[in-house]
Amino acid sequence: MQSENYLRHEHVAVIYLNNPPVNGMGHSVRQEVSTHLDAALADQEVSAIVIMGAGRMFCGGADIKAFNTPASRAEPSSRTLLKRIEASAKPVIAAIHGNALGLGLEFAMGCHYRIAQRGAALGLPEVKLGILPGGGGTQRLPRLVGVEEAVSMIIDGSSVDADNAMALGLVDEVAPGELLPAALAFASRVSRNTDHPVVSRRPAAKAATPDFFEKERARLAKSRRGFPAPLECLACIEAATRLTFDEGLQFERERFDVLVNGTESKALRHLFMAERAAAKIDGVAPDTPTADIARVAVLGAGTMGGGIAMSFANAGIAVTLVESRAEALERGLATIRKNYSATAAKGRISQAEAEARIARIEGTLKFEWVAEADLVIEAVFEDMALKKEIFGKFDTHCKAGAILATNTSRLDVNEIAASTRRPQSVIGLHFFSPANVMRLVEVVRGSASSPETIACAMKVVRQIGKLPVLVGVCDGFVGNRLSAHYAREAEFLLEEGASPAQVDGALQAFGLAMGRFAMADLAGLDIGLASRKRLATTRPAHLRYSKVADRICEMGRFGQKTGAGYYCYEAGSRTPAPDPLIEQVIVDCAREAGITRRPISDEEIVERTIYALINEGAKVLEEGIVQRASDIDLIYVNGYGFPAWRGGPMFYADTVGLTRVYARICEFHRQHGEFWQPAPLLKRLAEAGKTFAKPD
Ligand code: NAI
Repeated sequence: MQSENYLRHEHVAVIYLNNPPVNGMGHSVRQEVSTHLDAALADQEVSAIVIMGAGRMFCGGADIKAFNTPASRAEPSSRTLLKRIEASAKPVIAAIHGNALGLGLEFAMGCHYRIAQRGAALGLPEVKLGILPGGGGTQRLPRLVGVEEAVSMIIDGSSVDADNAMALGLVDEVAPGELLPAALAFASRVSRNTDHPVVSRRPAAKAATPDFFEKERARLAKSRRGFPAPLECLACIEAATRLTFDEGLQFERERFDVLVNGTESKALRHLFMAERAAAKIDGVAPDTPTADIARVAVLGAGTMGGGIAMSFANAGIAVTLVESRAEALERGLATIRKNYSATAAKGRISQAEAEARIARIEGTLKFEWVAEADLVIEAVFEDMALKKEIFGKFDTHCKAGAILATNTSRLDVNEIAASTRRPQSVIGLHFFSPANVMRLVEVVRGSASSPETIACAMKVVRQIGKLPVLVGVCDGFVGNRLSAHYAREAEFLLEEGASPAQVDGALQAFGLAMGRFAMADLAGLDIGLASRKRLATTRPAHLRYSKVADRICEMGRFGQKTGAGYYCYEAGSRTPAPDPLIEQVIVDCAREAGITRRPISDEEIVERTIYALINEGAKVLEEGIVQRASDIDLIYVNGYGFPAWRGGPMFYADTVGLTRVYARICEFHRQHGEFWQPAPLLKRLAEAGKTFAKPD
């Protein structure tokens, strides 16, 4: 028998896993492997079997879309297949190129031998999706590489390359060149052996010290707060040290089932799929031609400009950093050098690499130097007149076809674009602070931005290792627009009876990386003050307005940088301490506004702030500012410290149930007035029993 996925090379049968793009081990692949395995085992002429991947890789893992469906467990299961492979008298060799990830690596570990092409990556990244390797990985890996190494690979979800895998004992041979001939030669050699190694028959693994697991558990409880999967992975590896292989497999299955049905794993899988969905853009074909970005010019060497310049230099792209003031340029370049030295001192990059990155950033006071750039990113003060003047000058100085980007956090990208003769080339690239660290970039599509400009912007953001999410123009775009509503409710709750520490405590218990007020102190209260001043004239007089933040600023307290804000900070400390002075400011503001303070529950704090995000999110979605609810989730998880294990605000709303969320919002509307006008989309979905994930 010969077929596309089953070939005979003399006495070696080669079975291909073939399910583009990553050879995901769905039911049909397992069925096909099973059929070919039957043929190879029955064929007298075959003395060894090689299993390899067609196309780019061995196998990228299970088919995650099939999780929580009967197809994921349909026979032949991977467990059944591996039992047959282990029982086979003919050696079965996994020949790995590209990636062997998740179920791909678990499958390979169930084969007698593994040969990997140099450069291949092997890993069990399941933890990143809130699950554990449920195909025997937690039982086989510690038996192969030892407990400590298995813990590090499974709990970090990180991969090792072929050479490291060889050193660890995870593979038996590294093929420096072409894989197939090396695999065939290996197969011929081992086919002469009378006996073949079976990982599951190895003795149970042992930890180096008796308290190893206890210490790891304590570490994970702190470092992975809110995530159950790392602890479950650890429990399974521990099971591999005290149970038989079959009992361990049973234990792994039970823990897997708990995780895969839990909200956390559904949330993480939702975010995984959301990232893939975010790359698909209405009106921009996937094959839209994009220019190569070899040089970037960044205008402004301040907080954002410096971080943006570093992000490109990190990815090997040359940067011209343009300033208007010599001292600002010197300060900006010095900060960049200091950041790189600190990274090198921590051992994250070599000294030589730090110097290479610094050398990629060239500072200048000459505006004309933007001429060489394929992409220009303006990061000067948040001042419309200044930005318009600069974009006007781009017409004269920038090369034809250059992408003209602004890092504005709230200003109207269309108005900025109108100041050039090339509005089609203008786009917003809204980086988050610190820009060299934060992964999110809101790519703001202006009404004139061309498909080529959008496609190129999305591509270059990915190229520098960040996550681009396309949004439309509105005040604050998506992230800052939503968070204005969240911040407003947090502020109102102070006047109504809560303290900054209580609000922050409730939000942190919900899972946010930081509470609203500690975050505001970190970012600097002057940022909010500037935008409140700008919007003051447009604020209707009858609407409730909390003066607490303005009062705090009037006291000269701008947050951590001045040693005090909503909290006070001891010299050199970043730990917020409650301040009776602020308590008094809050009480005064409440009295002046005629508010009788009352005890506020933590539940109300979470609902008022998070439901404010959700309600505004529904409006943003309905206005077409984003294409899908999951784009909002990506923005909130990657830019605002929203807990990934809750999947983002819109996914969280789905898990609470839109009927309940809508009912509470209606109640808040009755109690607190027009800020809580329910989003029409939310009303429709709630009444139809639908979700944001599946609105149709
Ligand atoms: P910044 O005040 O730290 O830096 C602005 C820099 O631009 C200054 O060094 C200034 O000398 C320089 N500059 C002014 N006019 C210039 C000109 N004509 N040519 C070249 N350089 C000029 O400001 P920051 O915080 O970096 O903000 C920059 C932009 O990024 C603003 O539009 C802001 O809204 C936006 N943004 C800020 C975020 C933040 O957290 N700071 C977050 C996201 C966006």
